[in-house]
Order: sequence, then C-alpha cells, then structure tokens
Amino acid sequence: MPKHRRWLLPLLCAAGAACGGPFPQSSLRPHSDLAVAADQLFTDIFMWALLVFVVVEGVLLYVVVRYRQRAGAPAPRPTHGHTILEIAWTLAPALILVFIAVPTVRTIFATQADAPAGALRVQVVGHQWWWEYRYPDFGVVTATELHLPAGRPVSLELTSADVIHSFWAPGLGGKRDVIPGRTNHLVFSPDSVDTFPGQCAEFCGASHANMRLRVMVDRDSVFQAWVRAQQAGATRLITGSVAEQGQQAFRRYGCIGCHTMGTMSSATVGPNLTHVGSRTTIAGGLFPNDSVHLARWIGDPPSEKPGTAMPNMHVPAPDLAALIAYLRSMR
Ligand code: CUA
Repeated sequence: MPKHRRWLLPLLCAAGAACGGPFPQSSLRPHSDLAVAADQLFTDIFMWALLVFVVVEGVLLYVVVRYRQRAGAPAPRPTHGHTILEIAWTLAPALILVFIAVPTVRTIFATQADAPAGALRVQVVGHQWWWEYRYPDFGVVTATELHLPAGRPVSLELTSADVIHSFWAPGLGGKRDVIPGRTNHLVFSPDSVDTFPGQCAEFCGASHANMRLRVMVDRDSVFQAWVRAQQAGATRLITGSVAEQGQQAFRRYGCIGCHTMGTMSSATVGPNLTHVGSRTTIAGGLFPNDSVHLARWIGDPPSEKPGTAMPNMHVPAPDLAALIAYLRSMR
C-alpha cells in the first residue's frame, strides 16, 4: 500500500473490511493494472463517502449546539419553501452520484476489455474442490498453483467442470464467476514478483472454504524455467528405490484411476500429479506439501477435506511411506 494511504488501513480494519498489512489476501495492496483500477475506484468512492459524512455530521453537530433549547427562549420559527436550499440539496447529491457513476462505468468497461495481442493464455477450470490450470501454448497442465511471468498481460479463460465457482486472487484483481458451459475472461498484467494467495469466492459445496489457490508471479526467466520443467517428462526413478516401490503402490491402490501421472496414466478426475513434487501445497492448496501432511491427507482424505471425491484407500504404513517418497520425487 502506498505510504500516503496508510491511514486508511486502521479505519477499514475497524470496519471489518479485508485488511492489508500482515494479511496477504488483500485487495488493498494491488499488484496488477486490473487490481490498481479497482483499488483507485474504491478510494475515490470512499473519499466521496467521507466528504458526505463529514459535512452531514458537521452540520448536525452545529445545529444541535447552536439551536439547543435555552430557558426562556421563544419557540423556533419553522422554514417553508426555501427555493435555494431545495435546489442545493437536490443538485449536490445528483452531482456526487455523477462523480461516482462516471469513473465506475469507465472502470467496468476498461476491466472487461479484450486481452491485448501476445497475452499469455491460461485455461482455468474449477473443480470441487481444486483449480486446474492449462497452458495451451506450452502443453502444460497443472493444479492449485498458477505460475505467471511479471509484466506480461495474461488472459485467464475461466470455466467449470461441475458447479459454479468464482476465481479470486485479491492482490491481482476482482472476483470472476466460473460457470459450467461458459467461458469468462479475466485479463491483467501482474506488476511484481510475489506469491498471491486466493480462494474460491462462490459457495460450491462442502469444501468451498477449502478451495484455495496461489498465484506465483516470477521474473520471465524463472517462469520460462518452470515451463520447461513442467514440459519435461516424469522423473526417472532408480530401479529398486523406495520411490519405485511407491510407483507400484500408485498403480496398485488405484491412484491411476483418477490422476494423470506422466505417461503411466491419463485420468482427469483429480489433479495432474506428474510434477506434484514441485508444488508447495497439496489437496487444493489446503496443506503444505511435506511428508507429514501427505501421510495425513492420503491416510484419510474425507476427514481432511469434507466431501472430497478422493476416497480413503486404506494404504498400509509401509506402502504409504513408499507412495509419499514417490510423490515427493515427482518434481
Ligand atoms: Cu469453488 Cu467455492
């Protein structure tokens, strides 16, 4: 947040609004052209509201003090038909509404504009309860963590595989509905290297609140390296290693029935796991991607994420350890 508007924060926190400061999921720290436009509009309207509040409360306080009842004073004389006053209090609100409406409509049109030529296309598919990202120009399919280069326009093409969701990464722009059978667009240019947390913003079932996402904005060279790593085939496993035993467990416990894994399986019920070891989170962004959380997650998915389609496969401990070693090595 720019320095000159720091005073806004405590005010808004007091009102229970989305906060900046130590809270990363904030629209008050805009980091794309789209987010800046919405934030500017918010500030403009907030200033008008502040002006109206100060004027109205100021006049009220003045009248309460100036015309309070005094002992022995005559009854006040009522005012009727004051033409100038009536014109003033009709015109002033009308003008304020114009000052709010014009920038609002202008911002709506600006943020609905088509993507500029050369924008990076990403197809975003909402699922109960995780986000799938497809990069048609690179042949890359991933989940939960959306990687973007800084300073380049991106065009998200949003649709859903099941029910209505809403894609929302507050630092990069407003919410956009994700509707089955329809493609909505979200166009913006991230302006700085950072990780922007977000989440589904439309109630979509039992684990709606568990439908998290992260947008990782990197320098272009870092992004290109990530793309190359994702384009590479699945990690080669050392024969006889624990990870290789885990690969057999992946097949034996039916994981291949739902997940794409390199050339071994191509199912699309759950996220593509070919490079799952390179992600920082699992289970739709709900838990950190480490051995402890993987064990807890695979050990009993429905208790970790209510309503999830992933069943408890009752994998015994030695196989579970091998499975985790396998997933962590798939980078
Ligand atoms: Cu998806 Cu709420």
